[in-house]
This record gives sequence, C-alpha cells and structure tokens, in this order.
Amino acid sequence: MYEVKLLTALRDIPLGGLRYFEEVSSTNDIALAWAQEDARDFSLVIANEQTTGRGRGGRGWQTPPDSALALSLLLLPKNRENQNISLLTGLGALALATTLEENYALKPEIKWPNDILIHGKKVAGILVEVSWIGDVAKAIVLGMGVNIHASAVPPEGELHFPATSLEEVLGKSVDRVEVLHGFLTALLKWRPLLGREEMVAAWGEKLAFRGKQVEITGGDGQVIHGRVLGLNQDGSLHLDTVESIHFGDVHLRPTQL
Ligand code: ATP
Ligand code: BTN
Repeated sequence: MYEVKLLTALRDIPLGGLRYFEEVSSTNDIALAWAQEDARDFSLVIANEQTTGRGRGGRGWQTPPDSALALSLLLLPKNRENQNISLLTGLGALALATTLEENYALKPEIKWPNDILIHGKKVAGILVEVSWIGDVAKAIVLGMGVNIHASAVPPEGELHFPATSLEEVLGKSVDRVEVLHGFLTALLKWRPLLGREEMVAAWGEKLAFRGKQVEITGGDGQVIHGRVLGLNQDGSLHLDTVESIHFGDVHLRPTQL
C-alpha cells in the first residue's frame, strides 16, 4: 500500500530511481551499496521499517513498522556540492524544516548539527554519509528519519534527548507520503543554493538555542560552554567563547534542559 502510494504521489518529482523495502537493515546501507552500482542522481530508498537504523557515531535510530518516514536520498555531487560537503546535513535539515513550516504551520528548530526539534523535542534526525574516491565525493547519501506516529518514538528511558512525533505535536493524523513530497520539493529548491549566503542564513534563522547558553561535548568527553551566536559560512557553529565548532561526534545540549 505504502509503495503504491509512493509511486503515485512522487510522479512529479524527478527521481533518478526508487527502491522500496517493507523491512530493511538501514536505508543508508542500501543507498551506499546502490552508489557502487549504477545509481543515478536523486535516487531514493524508502523503508517501512528499519531493523538496524543508524544515527551518528554508531548510535541506533529506531524505525518500527508503519510509524515513520525513513529515507535515504542519493546525490551524485556536482562541483558545488563537492566543495560544500559540510553543509549537506544543514541542507537536509533546512528542507525538512521549510516543509514543516510551510505545509504544517509548525515552528521547527534545527538542533545543530543534525536534528529537527518541535517544542524542544526531537522529531527527526539526519545522517549524511559520503562515499569517497581520494578526496572527491563520489556519492552522498542523505539519510533522514521522521517520527510520524507516536509509535515511532522510543521509550523515554532509551533516549538522551526528549523526542516526539508529528502527530503528537499536531494533534491530528499525518500522511508520511505528503511529508516526503514536501521534503523532496523543498530539497530541489534549496539544493542549487547550497553554500550561498541565502541558504546558510535560512538555516541559521532556524537554529535552536540561539542566544542561549549551551554545552558541547566532543567524542573525547571534552566539554565546551558558550552562548550560541549563529552559524559560520561553512556550517560550523559560532559560540561567544569559540569561533567555530565543526561537525564530528559532538553533542549540543542547552545548559538546562
Ligand atoms: P545529539 O542529539 O547531540 O546528536 P544524540 O545522543 O541525540 O546526540 P543522535 O546521533 O543525534 O544522538 O541520535 C541518535 C539517538 O537518537 C539515539 O542514541 C537515541 O537515543 C535517539 N533515537 C533513536 N531513535 C529515535 C527516534 N525514532 N526518535 C528520536 N530519537 C531517537
Ligand atoms: C541522528 O539523529 O543521529 C540521525 C538519525 C538518522 C536516521 C535515518 S533513518 C533513514 C536513514 N537510515 C539510517 O540508518 N539512518 C538514517
């Protein structure tokens, strides 16, 4: 049913290809493997359920059946994208945030670098993975999980950060294929603007905790404190205490949750 609906709803989106799975390990794994074959630009992998969905740093991302939008979009990078790899997570976040704002009248915020929050709770996460040849990106996989129904949200005890679903915040049922259509449409609009001031500014306007005191914990356990001032042009985070914090295994938290 989901698959049939997808094919109909995405007729006007210029997809390079579409692979649908009732159940899969991780859509990112499928997309990365597809990139080694004959995949075309803007090919899409969708799953109704993931058994080993991944977040950053090897953490898990839960996608129970019939509950969420789990997708991986394969981009074969053009010049501009090769020079702006660090902005691709922001591109995905901006496209989803735009959709939620324009089509669902929500006020999403982007928790740097890769999560979408609504009313301070995580509703979606983005994981960008790149297949490299030397220092040139051969393929980019933009993976995104969006909690649609309440059943997508893991039990509180399993979370490091509070989470919610679109249906919980909207108080009505949400069609995940409509969210997907909106996301792809917004991505097509923002993609040519990757790295331009307009795109980084639009992302920066949606930053969560702007002006607030936060702490950033690095993979090595080192903690940096500061007030969020905004984004730099390369997508790194600007605090009043440190000029640029780059992606990597870093966790941002408000000083008081
Ligand atoms: P940070 O938010 O700083 O990136 P994080 O601990 O939230 O760190 P992420 O890599 O963003 O980690 O996301 C993975 C985490 O998200 C998992 O460790 C789990 O706690 C949580 N998680 C897993 N599945 C879901 C889901 N469907 N919705 C919300 N959160 C989830
Ligand atoms: C995060 O918050 O750390 C990112 C979560 C990304 C989850 C999505 S769901 C679709 C795609 N497949 C995966 O295994 N991960 C991403």
